[in-house]
Amino acid sequence: MTEQDLSNLLQRMTLPEKIGQMYSAHAPTDENLKMVEEGRLGTLLNIGHWNEGGLAARCNRFQRVAVEKSRLGIPLLFGRDVIHGYRTTLPIPLGQAASFDEALVEEGAAAAAREARAHGQNWTFAPMVDVSRDPRWGRIAESCGEEPEMNARMGAAMVRGFQGAGMASCAKHYAGYGAAEAGRDYNTTWIPENHLRNVYLPPFEACVKAGVKTVMSAFNDLNGVPTSGNALTIRQILKGEWGFNGLVVSDWGAVDELITHGYAADGAEAALRAIRAGVDMEMVTTQYETHVEKLLASGALTMTLVDDAVMRVLRVKNELGLFENPYVPEGVEDENANTAATRAIARRAAEESCVLLKNDGLLPLANVKRLAVIGPLADAPEEQVGCWSMDAEYATVVTPLAALRETFDGDISYFPALKTSRDTDESQFAEAVAAAEKADATVMFLGEEALLSGEAHCRAYLDFPGAQTQLLEAVAKKAKRLCVVVMAGRPLIMGRVAELANAILYAWHPGNMGGGAVADLLLGRAVPSGKLPVSFPHCEGQIPVYMGRRNTGRPTPEGARVGVPPGTPLDPKGFTSTYMDCDVNPFYEFGFGLSYTTFEYAGLELSRARVSAGGSLAASVTLRNAGNCDATEVVQLYIRDHAASVTRPLKELKDFKRVFLKAGESCRVTFELTTGQLEFYNAENRLALEPGAFTLFIGGASPSCLSAAFAVV
Ligand code: GLC
Repeated sequence: MTEQDLSNLLQRMTLPEKIGQMYSAHAPTDENLKMVEEGRLGTLLNIGHWNEGGLAARCNRFQRVAVEKSRLGIPLLFGRDVIHGYRTTLPIPLGQAASFDEALVEEGAAAAAREARAHGQNWTFAPMVDVSRDPRWGRIAESCGEEPEMNARMGAAMVRGFQGAGMASCAKHYAGYGAAEAGRDYNTTWIPENHLRNVYLPPFEACVKAGVKTVMSAFNDLNGVPTSGNALTIRQILKGEWGFNGLVVSDWGAVDELITHGYAADGAEAALRAIRAGVDMEMVTTQYETHVEKLLASGALTMTLVDDAVMRVLRVKNELGLFENPYVPEGVEDENANTAATRAIARRAAEESCVLLKNDGLLPLANVKRLAVIGPLADAPEEQVGCWSMDAEYATVVTPLAALRETFDGDISYFPALKTSRDTDESQFAEAVAAAEKADATVMFLGEEALLSGEAHCRAYLDFPGAQTQLLEAVAKKAKRLCVVVMAGRPLIMGRVAELANAILYAWHPGNMGGGAVADLLLGRAVPSGKLPVSFPHCEGQIPVYMGRRNTGRPTPEGARVGVPPGTPLDPKGFTSTYMDCDVNPFYEFGFGLSYTTFEYAGLELSRARVSAGGSLAASVTLRNAGNCDATEVVQLYIRDHAASVTRPLKELKDFKRVFLKAGESCRVTFELTTGQLEFYNAENRLALEPGAFTLFIGGASPSCLSAAFAVV
């Protein structure tokens, strides 16, 4: 269908049919099927779980009613949260971000779409591109971490992946949702427009540039105007400035919640405010269905706004080809599920997502004949698939224990010692400790069960839940050598683990294939390459702590001691922005991750020291694999703008590359940095390139980089 065809179709639609396209309902109920036939429902969410069987046929049954029985035959969208895999789960997005491998992230999204599409799902509510700088927030698990550039690159990669495989994708949650006060989900956000434009919006703009077909407005109150009623962010910026021509859907019930927020007195005002703001489709609540006709009759609402919303919905359906091919093949869903290709992608994603945080030489395990495997997450399929895994196929999950049992050449003794990550019963510790004492090496699998992160699952304490720390202490006393593998949906407080373990591998929630990936990394059949997409705090009191912080007028000097010695005069010298009882820097920094080899950086050179608008400079560095094993390094490029019309971050991630080098090999790694990458929203909230001094950094982690000065003139 052409755009004109869609306009012609729009002209033929009755008002109830138009309102039907602005409504998405949950579940395949008889009532919804009837509404489909009457043309009063254009989108169905959560039509079912693949394990009920015949999902494609069920979708086709609903679709046939829409296409062949309703008056105008407008096909349905079938929406589902395919966030990090469908039946074959990938690592959680925070883990995928740790791979710094956007090509692989794109492949993963495409694989997930192929599985979901075979089951009739043609719209996924992903990527989630909320910049997340608060690990208390459960949905940090679903994000690509703290840096706008990372969320932008990975979000765009997922858009390409999903949509290249025939699923409409959805950039969410627009906007600023990750800045929830106190790290509590759905909480208020206060984000000055300048900060919103420089930090929280760029990932969404990147998704729009990548062709995302839908955007989801969020739950949060943004500066007093809830995002699902916010004309500045939706109509002015998203649809106006960026020219987004797809559809905006509210998050689940968010239109109703405009009343709860106190931003609408009743359902009619909620509907009016949401449509005026630019929310084209209401998710599962029925304020549009109930009030639009009266709002039009009263003149409060114009048909122009309604027609614009409906056209956007029709356009997405048209771009998916649903007018020409509304149905999906039936009975072949399983043929597309868990294919070897999909499992291989999930395996690589899990392997590349793991971050080696400490290793005193214990890893890769060698000369180990007796291995003790201890902890509640060594053999927990439903936990390792993480949040948003409602369609995960647990039977195909490979746990670390299963993988080690298959591939470790020696004797394995396994003691969970705790039933779940929140178990506080210490009665099973003795056997585990005894096994650790006898073993040549011990690997503990600790962290969070899947339920402890994800939507509405926020934590005020970021310790290891239950009695896991007690288990760690008990085992560490007797274990000859100890590796801790952490499975979690967020950064945890790692101080005690770092004191007691010889090695630490952070596996996030690694998905269906995580066990084999972890086992290969532990046994040296693979080499860790992951880097942290988010900073780790020393303690909860330090939150928020992140790389892109501002310098303040009184930064803490590098290497400054923590605290003030007893007896110091009440007016000590050096009042700086610090704590009396904690380091101001993160416990683990953004971009940090070790390997089994060492990489050396030398010879940073810039092609020019001065660059002007429209220009670019090349930054090159020599990377050497100075160790004795082949490995991949994630080379990271950061910048700092030293003086501008608004203060700028100490470091901003601007580019990254994965570089494979054989042991002893070297190569030149070159980045092209354009002045476009140096632009930011200035004090007048205009995108600007400002002259002045910059520093460029290149390294394998944000705190340890080579640097060079350059200027914009
Ligand atoms: C949820 C989530 C959103 C999800 C939607 C549909 O409340 O906030 O991320 O896509 O509802 O399930």
